[in-house]
This record gives sequence, C-alpha cells and structure tokens, in this order.
Amino acid sequence: YSPSNSSSSFCSESRECLQFDLLCRTDEYEVRRYSATRWVSTDAEAYFLGVGAAMAFRRLYHYISGANEEGVRFEMTAPVLVEVPEEVKMWKPAIYTLSFLLPSAYQEHPPTPTNDKLYFSDMPDMDVYVRSYGGWMLSITSRLHAHLLSRALLRAHAHFNHTHHYTVGYDSPLKLLNRHNEVWYVVEGDPVCGEEHTPDTH
Ligand SMILES: *[C@@H]1O[C@H](CO)[C@@H](O)[C@H](O)[C@H]1NC(C)=O
Ligand SMILES: *[C@@H]1O[C@H](CO)[C@@H](O)[C@H](O)[C@H]1NC(C)=O
Repeated sequence: YSPSNSSSSFCSESRECLQFDLLCRTDEYEVRRYSATRWVSTDAEAYFLGVGAAMAFRRLYHYISGANEEGVRFEMTAPVLVEVPEEVKMWKPAIYTLSFLLPSAYQEHPPTPTNDKLYFSDMPDMDVYVRSYGGWMLSITSRLHAHLLSRALLRAHAHFNHTHHYTVGYDSPLKLLNRHNEVWYVVEGDPVCGEEHTPDTH
C-alpha cells in the first residue's frame, strides 16, 4: 500500500483517477490532500439525490461521448463527485451538482459542451475528511454515512464546512461486487487526525 497516491484498489475501473496524498487515518475517517483540478459539472434540481444524479449523469456522459463542439470522445475518469447541500427541506427540491473529472489531456483545454447546462468548475487545493463505504450509493446510505462522518468529526473537534458534503462514486452501475463509495467534508483550518494513527503504523 502506498500512502502517497491513489493507485489503490478502489480505482479499478478507470484509466485515470483523481490523485491524492493521504495525510492520516483514524479508525473512523481519513484525511486526504487534493491538488487543484478542473471538472465538468452540471446542476440538477430534484427531491431525491438518485433522481437528480441520474439526470445529471446522462448529461455529463453525453458530453464525454462526443456532445461537444470538437466532437471528441473520452473515457470516464473516477471518481464522480456529487455536491449535496446539507440543509434539505422536505417540501423543496435541492440542487445537486454532479461533476466528472476532466482527463489530464483535457484539463487545460476541455472541449466546449454543446449543452448549455454544462460548465467547468475548478476545484481548489483542499483537504477533505473521508469516510468510505461499500454497496450502492443511494440517497439514504449517502446521508447516513455523511451523518456518521460528521458525528465522528464533531467528536474529534475537527472543523469542516457544514454547508455541503460530497458523495463520491468510483464504480459504474454494472459493477455489482466490491463497490466503493465515499463521503467527504471539506476541512476548515488545520486537519485533525487521531493521535496515533499515522499512515506509517499500517
Ligand atoms: C503512484 O504510485 C504508483 C505505484 O507506487 C506509481 O507507479 C505511480 O507512478 C504513482 N503515481 C503518481 C501520480 O505519483
Ligand atoms: C463552505 O462552502 C460554501 C460552498 O462552497 C462556501 O460558499 C463557503 O464560503 C464555505 N465556508 C467557508 C467557511 O469556507
């Protein structure tokens, strides 16, 4: 196991995956450092994450399949990021933002989308708290794991941005076993790790 980058078991289906540095790990979460990257994004307004994500996913998939002015196609990368607002009112749809990481060949000059609902977003350098889980990334499991992660972070007195979390998927719907999903909160201030669980101890 190499703590320095993410050529890890869960990055199994895509040729290109988002790289990170593992800063530390506790029994309940990891802290990772990501450098700045560019993504193609789209927003979906929906009552349920699943419905919004399916709609947005189709738009992005269409884009990488050639629905762009240059007509180029490229392979999907991993992971797929969904930004989920924390405050969801039962009677109001929420805005979910789905993003695909642009492959390294298109980070600088991505093809222009033909659908005006797509836009590029620059993810800044950031540290994130990560909780991983298996199975399917459904609204309910995603919220549950976000809740468990935020509870662990509160116990650890770790500061994080409470306005949203990321639901992060690595697998295509065709993969049935050993699925890997994550939930992320963005670190605020200095990342907080457990005292004794540095990566070297594993
Ligand atoms: C990640 O680690 C693997 C194996 O240690 C290595 O082959 C690869 O070049 C590394 N990638 C980066 C981006 O450092
Ligand atoms: C938290 O994230 C939101 C949305 O990205 C951003 O507008 C806000 O400034 C962030 N809060 C802090 C304290 O950085």
